[in-house]
Amino acid sequence: MDAVVTTSRRARPEEIERARDLARRLGIPYIAREGSIEALGAKAVLVVTKERLVVETAAGPLFFHPGMARPRIRSLERGEADVMVEAMQLRRGDHVLDCTLGLGADAIVASWVVGEEGRVVGVEAVPMLAEVVRAGLLEYDPQHPGMRAAMRRIEVVAADHAEYLPTLPDGAFDVVYFDPLFREPVRETVHMRPWRALGVGRPLTREVMAEARRVARRRVVVKERQGSPVFEELGVDEIVGGRKSRIAYGIIDAARPAAGGGEGP
Ligand SMILES: C[S@@+](CC[C@H](N)C(=O)[O-])C[C@H]1O[C@@H](n2cnc3c(N)ncnc32)[C@H](O)[C@@H]1O
Repeated sequence: MDAVVTTSRRARPEEIERARDLARRLGIPYIAREGSIEALGAKAVLVVTKERLVVETAAGPLFFHPGMARPRIRSLERGEADVMVEAMQLRRGDHVLDCTLGLGADAIVASWVVGEEGRVVGVEAVPMLAEVVRAGLLEYDPQHPGMRAAMRRIEVVAADHAEYLPTLPDGAFDVVYFDPLFREPVRETVHMRPWRALGVGRPLTREVMAEARRVARRRVVVKERQGSPVFEELGVDEIVGGRKSRIAYGIIDAARPAAGGGEGP
């Protein structure tokens, strides 16, 4: 069995109901909790606890946390620059499509910057992760009113961006953003392991970039390892990022005519 839903031991009726509901939505079995998680024999187990949703994998647990979003928002509040925000040229009122939502840290920062007049939609291909982040964005209290509101405003879509992008009209978002798992990780931390066990490993393609460019009014932004060959493969126009940083952002200017897309002489 690949994936099942259960609860913690001695669950309350509302947790059991929530687990049943999630199982229905995900189209996977609900199993009443009796013994250990391992005894369920599934690769991924979505566990409904009193406090939160947890995905248990052989490589460790995965649950919602806003990661670096709070320190990044605090530094933006102090007037300091955020490389992603600059790479996106993000402004109040912008509409952002985050094609690799993950646990949503980048989307939270973007949502805080674009504010109430803006819009952030996050697409996550692993259905269990989409549920974990959806619940976390709605329920987690970051003890910061502006950030809490920014989290609650993010719209979560459980889909593969390669299938979702073609359903959108031209110029539907100002910025289309990708932060796939790095092909060669900068540093494989313990926290990344369950992610890799669950995450979609498919590399970005030029076809996906072409769709993203069509959907973007201003720019497509791709986060990758500094010096990654991915930038050239995807045909980005510009690469930005701190010289000392191990991370860089590739930018495709959506307003510029696509290379090879025009009529020849
Ligand atoms: C590195 S994480 C993103 C982290 C995120 N930017 C953050 O700040 O938390 C990449 C995520 O993209 C998801 N993903 C990978 N390929 C995808 C695809 N084709 N469509 C949608 N999501 C995808 C993975 O499942 C994973 O959760």
